[in-house]
Amino acid sequence: ETGQLDTIETSEKMDEIKTAFEYGEVIGIPTETVYGLAGDARNPEAIQKIFAAKNRPGDNPLIVHIYDVAQLSEFTEPLDVKVETLMEHFWPGPISFILPLKGNMLASNAVAELDSVAVRMPSHPVGRALLREVGFPLAAPSANLSGKPSPTDYSHVIDDLNGKVYGVVASEPATYGLESTVLDCTRFPYRIARPGSITREDLEDVLEEVVGRHESADNQPIAPGMKYKHYAPHQPLVVIEGGLRNNTHLQVEEGQKMGVIAPETTREYVPEGAQFISLCSTEQAYREAARNLYAALRKMDKSEVDIIYIQGFPKNAETEALMNRIYKATGNEIIKGESS
Ligand code: TXA
Ligand code: MG
Repeated sequence: ETGQLDTIETSEKMDEIKTAFEYGEVIGIPTETVYGLAGDARNPEAIQKIFAAKNRPGDNPLIVHIYDVAQLSEFTEPLDVKVETLMEHFWPGPISFILPLKGNMLASNAVAELDSVAVRMPSHPVGRALLREVGFPLAAPSANLSGKPSPTDYSHVIDDLNGKVYGVVASEPATYGLESTVLDCTRFPYRIARPGSITREDLEDVLEEVVGRHESADNQPIAPGMKYKHYAPHQPLVVIEGGLRNNTHLQVEEGQKMGVIAPETTREYVPEGAQFISLCSTEQAYREAARNLYAALRKMDKSEVDIIYIQGFPKNAETEALMNRIYKATGNEIIKGESS
């Protein structure tokens, strides 16, 4: 049984967690994006436990979490002033920076033997308190089984990893609900390796033209993790482009049950007999949709439905990360709306 470490406010639990990390244990921790599965980033055995618990391919590097920018000098090359400016602006918060790796303090399996490392300073008060007390960097991918949606609630971590990890620090549901933006800063202009709630526009409000305009010439994903199918429930998932409002004739085969994930304001268009999960209050409530997406996918995954339809949102800077995750979950099955 995986222990629920839900009272870490008490110094007693904090001491237990710190000791567990020192002994190479791995623990689910809350962050503002999604829950992470954390272990000592310097300890190859701890890192091996993370890969094993998640069943994660060994060529997919982990994100290293820190409490203080000063920690970076131990394992990354001196920071470019542009990177420093972005860190000052967005940290602590939902963005990871890929930087050139220095020395051998970090376990090489944590970075999948690459010569770069993704780093992040989370803002979640509990995650942050933990990083401060522990004192060393914690490598932490999302705390889901590989291929499942990332956990936005501690109960999701228990669903996926019960019995495979030392414990999970139980806190409230994640406020963003999608994984951090990953920005590759190993060459200039920088490139977004994974879209997140901090957008190109947000970055360029701070530093003009800091993000490259073109995809890599060979069209390979920058983040190895982006090449895998992801975030998927076991049933077929179909995006309704243009939204439910413009697609009122959803069909399922005889004897099959349909699930629909869409905004509350489109409930009236849900076909009779379908299982409806409200994704957000209105069709413009993108942040709320992002926060609820993975829990909705997990709930449908566990349900009796045979096929899932999910609302598509109009394409803009604010919906980019949301639609990126929805499309990854579908394997690209789309219904075109009459208008959108
Ligand atoms: O919000 C988040 O980022 C969460 C929380 C726990 O911090 N973490 C997370 O980690 O989403 P993970 O492992 O699920 O996703 C990390 C992504 C993967 O796509 C991985 O390939 C990419 O970052 N990545 C990590 N290090 C990299 C590197 N050196 N070069 C390129 N991509 C890297
Ligand atoms: Mg992940």
